[in-house]
Amino acid sequence: MFRQQEIQLKSTDQIALMREAGLLVARTLERPRDAVAPGVSTGDLDALAEETIRDGGGVPSFLGYHGYPATICASVNEQVVHGIPSRAQVLAGGDLVSLDCGAIVGGWHGDAAITVPVGAVDPAYGRMAEVCEDAMWAGIAAAHAGGRLTDISHAVERAVRAGGRYGIVRHYGGHGIGTEMHQDPHVLNYGRPGRGPRLIPGIALAIEPMITMRSPDTVELDDGWTVVTRDGSWAAHTEHTFVLTDDGPWVLTALDGGLGRLGDAVTARQPRD
Ligand code: MF3
Ligand code: CO
Repeated sequence: MFRQQEIQLKSTDQIALMREAGLLVARTLERPRDAVAPGVSTGDLDALAEETIRDGGGVPSFLGYHGYPATICASVNEQVVHGIPSRAQVLAGGDLVSLDCGAIVGGWHGDAAITVPVGAVDPAYGRMAEVCEDAMWAGIAAAHAGGRLTDISHAVERAVRAGGRYGIVRHYGGHGIGTEMHQDPHVLNYGRPGRGPRLIPGIALAIEPMITMRSPDTVELDDGWTVVTRDGSWAAHTEHTFVLTDDGPWVLTALDGGLGRLGDAVTARQPRD
């Protein structure tokens, strides 16, 4: 499963191009995020995202991917990932929606996701979304040159477990990213540290924990895409694309490069935008 030779390492110039894609994804996600409200459809959110990507000179990477019919995935409540946006799916107060978005700029990919409350949600769900995001950042912070891939996996799991009794979805995970959206290696969101490929500068990964209120088991709906929890419990999903530089992780899909969450220690010497 772990084949070092399959991992595409990015040069400094290529990383600069990936930053363009990452920034476009970051700016794009702000639009549907700010539009989320009771009465808004996930199809409306999708249209906003597509317009923003195209205006920014990018191409939506999900659209047409293995036949996927939209720009974003919008996964509501018990939907975990890959929910297909629709004008018929109207958000209601109290819902929890994950918005996943990818774009290609100049041949390079960015991929990110956020989980957003619709109006006032049960605090238990807001807390789950927070734990999911914290776990993603913990995973990214665990990446350092000379370490191993599963250091990230382990850090994600630890942070989820520290946050509460959530299910960690096992069937899906993070991935390498670059000239394709999905590259080697697959990144589990759980496991022992110190395994797998060595982390070296130039490796670019999308880290995306998916957690649930109860069982981590999932099923795919008949539409061939939408992944829901088997027990109907609600889920959260958060994702960022980062590249490991000589100075630590640089979060390409965060407007601030991850500075706010990772702290000066690892990002102080990152390239400035
Ligand atoms: N962001 C998702 C991932 O990381 C991709 C969505 S699947 C698609 O796996 F088909 F919608 F593109
Ligand atoms: Co992804």
